[in-house]
Amino acid sequence: SVAEDRSPKFPIPANVYAEKIVSVTHYTDHLFSFRVTRPQSLRFRSGEFVMIGLPNAEKPVYRAYSIASPSWDEELEFFSIKVPDGPLTSELQKIQPGDTLLLRQKTTGTLVLDALTPGKRLFMISTGTGIAPFASLLRDPDTYERYEQVILTHTCREVAELKYGQELVADLANDPLIGELTHGRVTLYNSTTREESPRMGRITALIDSGKLYTDLGIAPLNPETDRVMICGSMHMLKDVKELVESRGFEEGSLNHPNTFVVERAFVG
Ligand code: A2P
Repeated sequence: SVAEDRSPKFPIPANVYAEKIVSVTHYTDHLFSFRVTRPQSLRFRSGEFVMIGLPNAEKPVYRAYSIASPSWDEELEFFSIKVPDGPLTSELQKIQPGDTLLLRQKTTGTLVLDALTPGKRLFMISTGTGIAPFASLLRDPDTYERYEQVILTHTCREVAELKYGQELVADLANDPLIGELTHGRVTLYNSTTREESPRMGRITALIDSGKLYTDLGIAPLNPETDRVMICGSMHMLKDVKELVESRGFEEGSLNHPNTFVVERAFVG
């Protein structure tokens, strides 16, 4: 039999990089991550996203993906859902090492350290694949230059979906570049909502009830000392944004850094 032709079916535009898939990891029927060669000239801030697409689609479909690797990494990492009839992910979930991935050259995003004013604790609040930009920031030495403590929350429907975040945080200690820097300073707080697990509930409920604070033995969210980054679905963003605003946090941007920032998880 003849192997499926996965070579580009149209000319690669000038403002697009064509890179090679290095590895693919499937976590569940709905989630996978992959690593791709990094274009030498691609520069980005940890926490930003980029538009990615496939060359073998009938017509090129691009979607915004947070870069999950830190800005110093030689490869780029992405974390994605799989949607059976999703315009991009239906094909993207079939990628293999050696396949070509297209990346638009411009990166952007608001989940960057420069959009926040200095503080003591940095809360990264995520659901599902919204953890991706934090995977980048957690591996960036800058994060530890600016904050004493980092608290990463990750809520998913099912237990297996928490694995990416668990591995991410466990691997920090072994990282030759930032391992020592992260020692004793990163806390992972995860929960599920639709499968039985040791901790259940939406992060909004866990904060509202105060359970987050009692579980970790930490002081409540306080705009004087804390900064918050939020990434998840549209509904989650809205609810968590309201929650932190009700506690006195104000949204920041690169032009006007402040005490919290949000980004929708660009997936589909
Ligand atoms: P739930 O199962 O109660 O909807 P999704 O896959 O829909 O993006 O959900 C990922 C996780 O985010 C799920 O655990 C889900 O909980 C949770 N979630 C969904 N909407 C919100 C919201 N408005 N506020 C907080 N968490 C949410």
